[in-house]
Amino acid sequence: MEKSRRPQQLAFILLFGLWLPCCLTQTTPSNSATPTPSPSPSPQPQTEKLKVRLAGYPRKHNEGRIELFYKGEWGTICDDDFSLANANVLCRQLGFVSATGWTHSAKYGKGQGKIWLDNVQCGGGEKSIELCKSRGWGNSDCTHDEDAGVVCKDERIPGFVDSNVIDAHVDENKIEEVRLRPVVAMAKKKMPITEGVVEVKYKDGWAQICDIGWTIKNTRVVCGMLGFPHERKVNKNFYKLYLERQKNYFHIHSVACLGTEVHLAACPLEFSKPNATSACTGGMPAVVSCMPGPLFMQNSGLKKKLKISSNVRLKGGSRVGEGRVEVLKDNEWGTVCDDRWNLQSASVVCRELGFGSAKEALTGGRLGQGMGPIYMNEVKCVGQERSIWNCPFKNITMEDCQHMEDAAVRCNIPYMGLENTIRITGGRTRYEGRVEVLSLDSNGTQSWGLICGESWTTKEAMVACRQLGLGYANQGLQETWYWDSSNVTEMVMSGVKCTGSEMSLSQCQHHKTVSCQKAAAKFAAGVICSETASDLVLNASLVQQTVYIEDRPLHMLYCAAEEDCLSKSAAKANWPYGHRRLLRFSSQIHNIGRADFKPKAGRHSWVWHACHGHYHSMDIFTHYDLLNANGTKVAEGHKASFCLEDTDCQEGVSKRYECANFGDQGITVGCWDLYRHDIDCQWIDITDVKPGNYILQVVINPNYEVAESDFTNNAMKCNCKYDGHRIWLHNCHIGDAFSEEAERRFEKYPGQLNNRIS
Ligand SMILES: *[C@@H]1O[C@H](CO)[C@@H](O)[C@H](O)[C@H]1NC(C)=O
Ligand SMILES: *[C@@H]1O[C@H](CO)[C@@H](O)[C@H](O)[C@H]1NC(C)=O
Ligand SMILES: *[C@@H]1O[C@H](CO)[C@@H](O)[C@H](O)[C@H]1NC(C)=O
Ligand SMILES: *[C@@H]1O[C@H](CO)[C@@H](O)[C@H](O)[C@H]1NC(C)=O
Ligand SMILES: *[C@@H]1O[C@H](CO)[C@@H](O)[C@H](O)[C@H]1NC(C)=O
Ligand SMILES: *[C@@H]1O[C@H](CO)[C@@H](O)[C@H](O)[C@H]1NC(C)=O
Repeated sequence: MEKSRRPQQLAFILLFGLWLPCCLTQTTPSNSATPTPSPSPSPQPQTEKLKVRLAGYPRKHNEGRIELFYKGEWGTICDDDFSLANANVLCRQLGFVSATGWTHSAKYGKGQGKIWLDNVQCGGGEKSIELCKSRGWGNSDCTHDEDAGVVCKDERIPGFVDSNVIDAHVDENKIEEVRLRPVVAMAKKKMPITEGVVEVKYKDGWAQICDIGWTIKNTRVVCGMLGFPHERKVNKNFYKLYLERQKNYFHIHSVACLGTEVHLAACPLEFSKPNATSACTGGMPAVVSCMPGPLFMQNSGLKKKLKISSNVRLKGGSRVGEGRVEVLKDNEWGTVCDDRWNLQSASVVCRELGFGSAKEALTGGRLGQGMGPIYMNEVKCVGQERSIWNCPFKNITMEDCQHMEDAAVRCNIPYMGLENTIRITGGRTRYEGRVEVLSLDSNGTQSWGLICGESWTTKEAMVACRQLGLGYANQGLQETWYWDSSNVTEMVMSGVKCTGSEMSLSQCQHHKTVSCQKAAAKFAAGVICSETASDLVLNASLVQQTVYIEDRPLHMLYCAAEEDCLSKSAAKANWPYGHRRLLRFSSQIHNIGRADFKPKAGRHSWVWHACHGHYHSMDIFTHYDLLNANGTKVAEGHKASFCLEDTDCQEGVSKRYECANFGDQGITVGCWDLYRHDIDCQWIDITDVKPGNYILQVVINPNYEVAESDFTNNAMKCNCKYDGHRIWLHNCHIGDAFSEEAERRFEKYPGQLNNRIS
């Protein structure tokens, strides 16, 4: 490894929030009180806890260049003699259980300032890196070309508190925030703000960027950070007149982004001395204009022109612009494996969906696991691609990857201020309360008011929780009398009806004038929100594999009749003689979400089914139906209630719920509940059904009774052919697994074949 000296004064930084000792235009006052730390001869542990952080680029939350904060300054470690034992000590200091590797030769870019340690040799069990053998603080013959990095196992030490986050402000030039300030003449109140002067916030306040040498690539990075997929040209002359008349504070100049960075701080930048008004002679503050994605666009004409990708989607996120990445291939949706998943690839996904660049590239199924095929691995986007499908990737065989490794993203989305027009009050925690919305009265004054609880369901609550930024709706409440009602407001909204996917309640339907039967505050709409939720999915291929017909003698069906598992005509049968024709199959219901699925009702209200000898905790847990071409039910909709439990779990997850002995009911994340085809009531009574082609449909949690992160995957459908003797199922799939086109073809099936048969 190279040992030559490099100039100390580096004008460019490539890294997030780094302290830059000197810049081209910066002169340090001679009476500066900043002490220059002198290297200590031996690694004396400091009195306070040593701060360690991951820096550099492209780093992840669990890998990057190692930096240590010593004597008021961040510095690096030289890679000479570096080992996995060193990495283990550092990863534990960072809050991870262990290291999986380490890197040399400045893999994450070169650091700045001091090289604090060199020839570090840990045993591996040390509590802190400063307790390991080394040449001593600041004693090194290396250059930053040899900066060491670590790759930590993506598993946190339980309860670890990251103190580094709090200390991040020690970076003089850390960019804390970026915003667009519209000029007064243009400042309409419309959200989002898509055009204006770029301003960066750092330690001492807000400042502008000098636009000399500014490129459209820089604009792209700024727009991406602010939640916009595309950049637009801007009329500089208009701004020039205005900006010449105001005082500007330039702090950054010579920005040279590639356009693929996810943060301005990742671009090469030069910093000026703070408040240097003269630092931009011949230039002006940088101004940018961004193109919002269709979701955030006011002008609906443009919306049609700017279509978002139809072969990529996000599933299971609790907020807009986040979720598991799913891609469409051969008309079926599948997931992406997380090997090498990074911010560049994640940003391509975000932008093609109409969001900005990626805020986080998540690995390890952090936003829930998918069920279907896994299509891609080792996706390696540069960042300029129009779609993830244009990036290099590897095809996958199921052995390479499992759904535990599903990749996900959190995208930057534009600030809409939606959370400012809604609040919750009266609840016991900040996640629950009566919903209040900000409204204008006839005099144009703003005031908060309640929503009528009538017709308020989980769907409406989902929108309210999303708008509040509090995640999923655990419950939508129609009565809230048991909450504190000392400061209740008037009812200002009623008849709210949402589809569940809106970003704010104002996008839902509601009455023009308030009309509420029970207008008292105790009947105001309330919500209980939650950061995580369950997600139930039926194993479609198991249904297809296990289907058969059974002619079951009536004398074996007394129990079933008592539980309402037969169609109405059974009542007129000549009991106990004769039989019923049953369409039977197994149901395996997986919880692929991030919280356990638990029945809403407490144990006291569970119903004992003496005949079958167990408690039912949910009255309606699934619908089993057979539909004809026009969607009419031909076999009577059978509402099944179950006794919920963990029949089995994926590796490493232990069972928690068990029906027997009045046990706790539910389905643990990573487990499934299996109803075998030979269990009583696990069927559809098709005694009265004529031969033909149908659609078999199973819907789980049909009334949205229990919170789930995704309700679009609750239905499972199959094409079903019945010739009067035998039955065949094909194309069994979860409600959201097919492309729209394939789904349309699927739905046409009964009609087409009926004609052919007759
Ligand atoms: C620059 O100075 C002005 C007042 O002199 C102050 O209001 C502003 O916050 C300063 N800006 C920065 C970036 O230091
Ligand atoms: C991946 O599979 C598709 C067909 O499904 C094929 O067209 C493509 O060439 C394969 N790519 C690689 C890298 O093997
Ligand atoms: C509107 O203003 C008038 C006069 O100031 C006042 O009498 C009235 O109560 C106001 N109405 C509301 C809804 O605040
Ligand atoms: C109700 O409002 C009063 C006055 O605004 C305030 O002092 C009090 O804390 C409020 N009570 C609750 C429970 O929020
Ligand atoms: C679904 O059922 C099929 C058929 O029995 C089985 O091979 C597969 O492993 C099941 N899927 C899951 C995710 O358990
Ligand atoms: C649906 O189809 C059934 C028979 O296939 C027919 O009796 C019924 O009238 C149809 N309903 C509608 C609304 O078309």
